Amino acid sequence: MSTGSVTNNRVLFFDTTLRDGEQSPGCTMHHAEKLRFAHQLSTLGVDIIEAGFPIASTGDFESVRAISRELKNGPRIAALARCRRDDVLTAGRAVEAAEKNRIHVFIASSDLHLEAKLRITRAQALDQTGEMVRLARTLSEDVEFSAEDATRSDLEFMIQLVNVAVEAGATTINLPDTVGYTTPAEYKQLFETMRARIANSDALIFSTHCHDDLGMATANALAGVLGGARQVEVTINGIGERAGNAALEEVAAAMMVRKDRFPFRHNIVMNQLAPTSTMLGEIVSFGVAPNKAVVGKNAFAHESGIHQHGVLANPLTYEIMTPESVGVTANSIVLGKHSGRRALEHRLTELGHTLTKDELDVTYTRFTELADRKKAIYDQDIVALLPQKISAN
Ligand code: KIV
Ligand code: ZN
Repeated sequence: MSTGSVTNNRVLFFDTTLRDGEQSPGCTMHHAEKLRFAHQLSTLGVDIIEAGFPIASTGDFESVRAISRELKNGPRIAALARCRRDDVLTAGRAVEAAEKNRIHVFIASSDLHLEAKLRITRAQALDQTGEMVRLARTLSEDVEFSAEDATRSDLEFMIQLVNVAVEAGATTINLPDTVGYTTPAEYKQLFETMRARIANSDALIFSTHCHDDLGMATANALAGVLGGARQVEVTINGIGERAGNAALEEVAAAMMVRKDRFPFRHNIVMNQLAPTSTMLGEIVSFGVAPNKAVVGKNAFAHESGIHQHGVLANPLTYEIMTPESVGVTANSIVLGKHSGRRALEHRLTELGHTLTKDELDVTYTRFTELADRKKAIYDQDIVALLPQKISAN
């Protein structure tokens, strides 16, 4: 099967932290917090901010409206709507003041969702999609259509559904992996097939939207782009329903570090990644796990002697990107039971203590004994280990 060539290598970053991200436990954000974070997303350079789901509550409607009014010369502001008249009209009102807006209309495409959740037939889904996308187009020139649970849907039906959405005026087509079920090879193939089977697909932007239930969200998003998607729907710190969404910082860092595999252009200001991650951690009720890729506290920390030795000689030995490139101030050499003599000497020198070889030997022996007993070693601990003559200096 031949697929149309995707000559444009620009990938749009669609941030849904304020919508899909906020839908996860512990991530509720107040009005002022949403506004503050929207400004930061603009500084980060995202192309589209999905600001909320306006029909969900008055609070959500007001936040989307305020973001639409306040953000100038920045990202396009999107609002989510089910295939229901009230949803679409409310979403339209919420984003009407934005310089650039989008209405994001979705309906489930899998039989499981149609039967168990929506209790409608495929024919009804086709009718509702056509009608609501057409209505959305009367309110915005930019309409995105999502086929929820795309990765568990019947391919032929999904092609029919997407064709109806496109005929009704949708210009961005999102194929969400709603339950984090797909694999990278499968997801890439899905985009290739859809691009080949949808009429006039070169005029459309296809989008990924990946959840992390099997820990493959970032890999799947990147695979989707390789299959021809030119928009990625992501969240900061990967927050989102259940195990979360593909993390913006991971997708952007992969495109930076592995340009050879992902030769795509985007607008993300890379050194704003860590500040954005930190801000979100302050707003929602949890930060990222220490071992979180790119922005976790340990992402550029080295504790084992072998790694510390390498990094002190040349950071590239154990770092595939510089901390500064993603907005982290510096790497850290963490002293612990796996640390070597060189790392201890390095830290003591930084603290102003130059040791002879014998003094270092004594201090290192004491240090390993302490590190066996204590989980975290602080500067004052190692200074206390110095032979008396030196610590008095
Ligand atoms: O995961 C999903 O399918 C969604 C849609 C509403 C786009 O969040
Ligand atoms: Zn989602």
